[in-house]
Amino acid sequence: MEILISEERIRDRIHALGKQIEADYLGRPLTIVAILTGSLIVLADLIREVGIPHRVALLQASSYKGATTTAGALIINESFAPDVAGRDVLLLDDILDTGHTLATLVHRMSDRGALRVRTAVLLRKLGRQEVGIEPDYCGFVIPDRFVVGYGLDHNDDYRHLPYVAVLPTPEDPGASEETGQFPVMG
Ligand code: IMP
Ligand code: MG
Repeated sequence: MEILISEERIRDRIHALGKQIEADYLGRPLTIVAILTGSLIVLADLIREVGIPHRVALLQASSYKGATTTAGALIINESFAPDVAGRDVLLLDDILDTGHTLATLVHRMSDRGALRVRTAVLLRKLGRQEVGIEPDYCGFVIPDRFVVGYGLDHNDDYRHLPYVAVLPTPEDPGASEETGQFPVMG
């Protein structure tokens, strides 16, 4: 598979984001709410870079059904939903694609009484967004290709890869010269 973002670049970027979050939330009642399952790896690495007191909580959302690479209906499981009343929530997801997941969860957190809700994503895919939401923290901007690794899956496979790679699909058979034309930003 074509590696789009190396382990080292991810580490450097997560460090920088963590320090930025640390500075921005100093003295504030921060709860980082990670959206399972894709954000598991970024959560573990990011919170160890945020050197201020904060809470961690989890929500589960999924929009990809089985082996497809196109989105289905959004399913949200709030059974572990945290008490965020009066707290600053930072929602963390692996990737901003159409934007439906994050936009929906921002509203849910506000409805649950959060003081302020902001968003952080490891990746933002270009040219796919359907909902107008600007992430407050973004690791990397990537071209419109289906990626796996560092938490991101295809049918629950590949999450363990320490880098982000392009999954070959019939429409995007893999390693191509395109990567040079669509640089990963961040
Ligand atoms: P959105 O609601 O369309 O923004 O979708 C966000 C969710 O779709 C993410 O949390 C991922 O689980 C999934 N997703 C979107 N693009 C990819 C991809 O390229 N690889 C793996 N999962 C993806
Ligand atoms: Mg996900």
